[in-house]
Amino acid sequence: MRIFTTKEEIKTFLTHIKKENKTIGFVPTMGALHDGHLSLIKKAKKKNDIVVVSIFVNPTQFNNQEDLIKYPKTLDNDTKLLKSTNCDVLFFPSVEEIYENNVKSEKFNFDGLEHQMEGKFREGHFDGVGTIVKTFFEIVTPNKAYFGEKDFQQLQIIKKMVEKNQLPVKIKGCPIFREEDGLAMSSRNIRLSKKHREAAPFIYKTLKKANKKFGTENAINVTEWVENQFKKHPLLDLEYFTIADEKSLETIKNKESNKKYRAFIAVFAGEIRLIDNIRLNKN
Ligand code: PAF
Repeated sequence: MRIFTTKEEIKTFLTHIKKENKTIGFVPTMGALHDGHLSLIKKAKKKNDIVVVSIFVNPTQFNNQEDLIKYPKTLDNDTKLLKSTNCDVLFFPSVEEIYENNVKSEKFNFDGLEHQMEGKFREGHFDGVGTIVKTFFEIVTPNKAYFGEKDFQQLQIIKKMVEKNQLPVKIKGCPIFREEDGLAMSSRNIRLSKKHREAAPFIYKTLKKANKKFGTENAINVTEWVENQFKKHPLLDLEYFTIADEKSLETIKNKESNKKYRAFIAVFAGEIRLIDNIRLNKN
């Protein structure tokens, strides 16, 4: 596996790859890799000649400084895992290398997708995500880029960015990877205390029950039911639960036959904020 820390070096290397007409698959990450990331890399390996993974904890997408400082950093283990998947290139730049002296986001218009859910609770988050993903696309020039559906809103926003800027990259969404007890895999899970880790599978259990209820009840009733479940829970604090249209990400009141819906949730388990979502069946 080749490891690059500067834009110049990786660009030079990838220019040669492109000249050989090889395709590049790209998996951007913030490190603390888990099986969810590895599944994206394996998918990318199958469909591209070479796979580039970036590890970069992007400061501009954090609205909470403590979350940024405490974000898990496990580079030695990440490198081992990447080698075990036969990843071809690791790009591991510093903040200075990427942002130089201007650690700021570009402002984006994602046609309203950015104002829903995470956008309401994490100010500037999606400008930070858009800035770094666009920058990485310019450096890596991937043919395909892979993102997990756990961050479904992020996935839709990146698709929108690619469409609006006509970027020459195909965005591939990949299913959520879960622990055996149902908790969605996330780099933040290793920061959960023992009791919060034990409590956290309640989130997915509740999403599954909400999915069942959505077959017979309207979105408002299902939402109220979920909110009540969390009111009764001693360890988990619900930040939001919403049933939204998969495309517009707008909260819905009534079901329509030709639309796809998802339930989205954000929960505090102690000081760790967890998100998850589920595709809903209408009947
Ligand atoms: O999903 C993530 O890990 C990050 O938001 C991403 C896409 C790597 C951008 O920093």
